[in-house]
Amino acid sequence: MGKPISGFSKLSKSKKIDWIVDTYFAKNKSAKSIIKQYWNSNEKLQQLHDEFIENTITNYYLPLGVAPNFLINNKLHTIPMAIEESSVVAAASKSAKFWLERGGFKATVLSTTKVGQVHFLFDGQFEKLQDFFNSIKPKLIEESKPITKNMEKRGGGILDIELRDKTEDLQNYYQLHATFETKDAMGANFINSCLEQFAKTFKNAALTFEAFSGEEKNIEIVMSILSNYVPECLVKAEVSCPVSELSDDNSINPEAFAKKFIQAVNIAEVEPFRAVTHNKGIMNGIDAVVLATGNDFRAVEAGVHAYASRTGKYRSLTHAKIENGIFYFWIEIPLALGTIGGLTGLHPLVKLSLELLHHPTAKELMQIVAVAGLAQNFAALRSLTTTGIQEGHMKMHLMNILNQFEATDTEKTKLIEHFKTHVVTHSAVVEALNSLRRA
Ligand code: MEV
Repeated sequence: MGKPISGFSKLSKSKKIDWIVDTYFAKNKSAKSIIKQYWNSNEKLQQLHDEFIENTITNYYLPLGVAPNFLINNKLHTIPMAIEESSVVAAASKSAKFWLERGGFKATVLSTTKVGQVHFLFDGQFEKLQDFFNSIKPKLIEESKPITKNMEKRGGGILDIELRDKTEDLQNYYQLHATFETKDAMGANFINSCLEQFAKTFKNAALTFEAFSGEEKNIEIVMSILSNYVPECLVKAEVSCPVSELSDDNSINPEAFAKKFIQAVNIAEVEPFRAVTHNKGIMNGIDAVVLATGNDFRAVEAGVHAYASRTGKYRSLTHAKIENGIFYFWIEIPLALGTIGGLTGLHPLVKLSLELLHHPTAKELMQIVAVAGLAQNFAALRSLTTTGIQEGHMKMHLMNILNQFEATDTEKTKLIEHFKTHVVTHSAVVEALNSLRRA
């Protein structure tokens, strides 16, 4: 059992650790050394990580891998991926190589509009509210100038502000629904600052709007916040090739494979239980690049899944078809990403990842991330509709099982060789390791 503590955030890092160890790890003598062994010996670097969040006690490592050979719009990329799942980088690399030999990936940014809303309550006549909004709209934009000035210099800023009547959904509920262009920044701080300024201007001006009655003057701002649903910040990535070229393996008939592959996509279009797993596999690729490039994967996840449900039913994010003997496979997803601001200028590995990608613009990063998702889905469906997923998955998982049983380097070498010709299962690995140790 834990115990409450007040003023925890004000304790020094070492006092915080002492409290945790005393409270939760009385029986675990190695807890403190586990925490400390992940500290970076470079104190400045450690301090940088400590200051990303509150109450940092140590660092949580994820592997940063790279998937080479991604040809995207005729430009070759090696894509950085931060992820713990063993088969993801291998699958991305395999897909990249496959499509490199078939013309590569094409990607297009369809739109880049971001959204934010001021949610408020108004108890009165809508017509008067509309008049008030029309009269105040230029002032909303004008009073945000100190915030928007720099963004405007970069070609971004506020695109529009609309008044939306939501009273059919909730009594007295209205919104200022604003759209923004944030260029290479993800723009969360920019959007939220603009929205809070709109709310202030809006509320203050209502107090002196003559047509409002006493009650109507009292607009209640509930909250001002960006939306992570960005259906107008869209990117499309695609691959295509003649069906006859769709196999690099003699045991796979390309026509039969193409048909089965499309069936698998169609199932994910109509069956939510499958669509969720199908899209999860896509997010394996997307999140890994989003994380490696210092972007907010929770925002991306929330927006992407909302988009997958936009028809009222949760569906596949990828689509496939055969037309005139050509196999087409594509993805269309909303991605609000940044290549400046946030962690992008702070985290040394994020900076390195962006450099590896040739310092992409936000639009280029959207393309790269969408491609990573499409590639991941291609690899998953290819395995699922041919060998089954476990063969490749367990091969990659072999090292995790060996590490779990503290296999030595020699044992690892021998068992990796052994499992090149044997099926990897958890029990088969344990058995092989035990018999090696007995011998
Ligand atoms: C596993 O992380 C992802 C898959 O389940 C995706 C899929 O089923 O398409 C393999």
